[in-house]
Amino acid sequence: MIYSAIAAILVLSGNVVAPPPNESTIDNPCRAVFSSHPIFPTLSSSLFEIIGEINMANYSAEILKTTLTTPAYIPEDALGRYDLDSMHVPNLPLWEERDNVNVTVNDMEWFLRQAYRDISIHIIFVTEALREQTSSGVARLLVLEFTDVRRFFYNLLCKMDTLIKSRGISLTDYEDESVLPAVFSVRRREVMRFMKHYVHAKDVMTFLTNLKPGFVQLFDEVQGSLP
Ligand SMILES: *[C@@H]1O[C@H](CO)[C@@H](O)[C@H](O)[C@H]1NC(C)=O
Ligand SMILES: *[C@@H]1O[C@H](CO)[C@@H](O)[C@H](O)[C@H]1NC(C)=O
Ligand SMILES: *[C@@H]1O[C@H](CO)[C@@H](O)[C@H](O)[C@H]1NC(C)=O
Repeated sequence: MIYSAIAAILVLSGNVVAPPPNESTIDNPCRAVFSSHPIFPTLSSSLFEIIGEINMANYSAEILKTTLTTPAYIPEDALGRYDLDSMHVPNLPLWEERDNVNVTVNDMEWFLRQAYRDISIHIIFVTEALREQTSSGVARLLVLEFTDVRRFFYNLLCKMDTLIKSRGISLTDYEDESVLPAVFSVRRREVMRFMKHYVHAKDVMTFLTNLKPGFVQLFDEVQGSLP
């Protein structure tokens, strides 16, 4: 009796701790099982795929942002009254022009590490926004849109993970929820939460648009050096 109770607790906590094997995590975005001899794509096709995923993630964020500007979410007068386009979500990386300068294939480890870290932070923020929407009690609004943004971010992180492993770089520390600002969740009026999501979607697009040139630069360099 006692033993079966303990066994039940162990099973329970086991379930809580381990995510389902098919679910992406920041330290295992490809949901990959360990393989000692993985086959990696070429650098050129890795970079090409990363750029494609950046575009897809940007597109999903644009859909989220466009959805929020329909009157069912944010009334037009509210959009005009608050200068939402000049606001930013605290602590969310936007990536800067200078973060791309002088990245070269021979010296790209710092760039890949920083990109991986900042994409991870974005996944944590989108996950939190998704949690806010699912727990808001309101007809699961925006769940589809946020789920898409998160899925494309994970696809991007998976391609990054593959590239990083193919270069023999090892990542050992990962971001966690401590990057979230203390007052990220807006629990008061729903329209306030939608406005925050609008700023969030806009910042995601800024981040991805600033991130892309570094990868394009690397891709061009690899293409240029092909025989
Ligand atoms: C993982 O698999 C379970 C059961 O097969 C399914 O319900 C769930 O949606 C899957 N999750 C993902 C992220 O694919
Ligand atoms: C980029 O590299 C060049 C040549 O090494 C250097 O002159 C320039 O200052 C660097 N730019 C930045 C922003 O670090
Ligand atoms: C993201 O979408 C915006 C609006 O369509 C566009 O201006 C920007 O260039 C896009 N960025 C990327 C990385 O696709």
